[in-house]
Parts: sequence; C-alpha cells; structure tokens
Amino acid sequence: MNDRPDVAVIGGSGFYTFLDDAETVDVDTPYGSPSAPVVVGTVEGRRVAFLPRHGRHHDFPAHTVPYRANMWALRSLGVRQVLAPCAVGSLRPELGPGTFVVPDQLVDRTTGRTQTYFDSGACHISFADPYCDRLRGDLLGGLAEHSPTDGGAMVVIDGPRFSTRAESRWYAEQGWSLVNMTGHPEAVLARELALCYAAVALVTDHDAGVDAGGAVNQADVFTVFGEYTEVLRSSLRGIVAALAPSTPEGRTCSCSSAVDGMDLPVTL
Ligand code: ADE
Repeated sequence: MNDRPDVAVIGGSGFYTFLDDAETVDVDTPYGSPSAPVVVGTVEGRRVAFLPRHGRHHDFPAHTVPYRANMWALRSLGVRQVLAPCAVGSLRPELGPGTFVVPDQLVDRTTGRTQTYFDSGACHISFADPYCDRLRGDLLGGLAEHSPTDGGAMVVIDGPRFSTRAESRWYAEQGWSLVNMTGHPEAVLARELALCYAAVALVTDHDAGVDAGGAVNQADVFTVFGEYTEVLRSSLRGIVAALAPSTPEGRTCSCSSAVDGMDLPVTL
C-alpha cells in the first residue's frame, strides 16, 4: 500500500465506487478477519479506507458482523476517523424515508454481541456522548443541502427481524427517534480504540408502530437505501476530503485520549 489512510467509511456495497485508484488490502486481526478485505484508495488526494460492513455480498447480517475485527483492522491500517452510514427505521412521523439524520445518542437493545476489547482489568470508558461531536458537525455541514436532522437517539436491536408494533411504539414513547441493527457495538469499539466515529443515518422506512400502516419489509429498505446511495456517496466524498487531519491539531475533540491510562490487551 502507498500512503496509509487516516479516514474510513464503513458502508453498504453501493459504496464500492467511492474511491479512486482503489486497492484491496487483506488484514488479519486478533479477532479474526473483517467483513471483507479493506479497500484503500484516494478521494481528492486524501487516502481513505472503505469497509463494507456486511461483507462484499451481504454475507453478514447485523447480528453476525465481526465488529471487533472490523474496527481493529481499520485502526491497524492507520485510520483515526470513521464515518458510518447506516439504514434506519424512523420512530417519528415527521422523519420520513429519505431523511438524513446525524444521531447524537444511542440505546443498546442488543444481546450477546461482544462490545469490548478489554476482557480483563479496570477499563471503563466514558460513553455518555457516543459520537464524535466534531465529526457530527462535519457530517451536518457536508449534507446541508439535504437538510439533515441534527441529533436524536438511535435504538439498536439485534434483528434480523424487524420490531413488533408494540416494541416499536414503546421505543417511540421513550423519546427515541430511530431504530437500527448495526449501530452497536461499532460506536463503542471505535471509542475503545480512541477513534473519532460518527454515524449518518438514512431513514428508509417508518417503523411498524409509527402509524397503523404496513409493516416494514426488507425489499423497501433496500430500495430506498439504493435510491439515496449516490447522494450519500457524493456528499461523503466531499466530507472526507475536507476532514481535519488526524493530527493533535486536527483532532480537537477528546476521542484520541478516550483510553489514556488503560492498556489494550493486544498491541496494535
Ligand atoms: N434498518 C432500516 N429500517 C429498520 C427498521 N425499521 N428496524 C431496524 N433496522 C432497520
């Protein structure tokens, strides 16, 4: 590989055309292989890594994605800032399909997903604010012409099934805005690796409890996501190209010191 990438996008397979001069890099990690070989290339002169979260051919449904290997692989390549597009269901009538949301909170309703690299010792990271606020601002600015919604809590469920109407109504009653299957543990693993990480959610459907309408179905989710892939792709190209450098001067947030004083069990 030529220069190491300092920025990554974790996205769906529609993002394969994201990078110029792309080359594929096989990375092994102490946690096994990532979802797919990492693709490294250039966007307006900047070295960027791309990793398809679900694998090249959607091989990994959300509950089987190798989240620890994915985040570790990116960091081992030099990545320090991660942008994470995802499809979400909306829990609010006013957030319709095609809306971009940059969430500021998440709620973990998953079970049994390994959500840490620290299997021994005292290592309790702060996670009150799960996303890098600096990157959130960059996403909101870069998507401005598409009127993104600033903030909202994303509840992450195991899947692979969608929620019942009762579950969905209950999530909405808590004041949460979005429901998704991949947002956790990606964000917390990023924090444990001292990475800057922010999600950008594309609403693909109203979840089952939002109105008395039809149930969510997979085909609609994929269709709507596909319709907006080009908008997301071109916006993200501009956003990654303009990101601050991954230097102490550029990363003015506190993400880089998230695990100071704690020893990762394996050296990167
Ligand atoms: N991803 C996209 N739409 C979803 C929904 N309604 N529930 C969970 N994950 C989703």
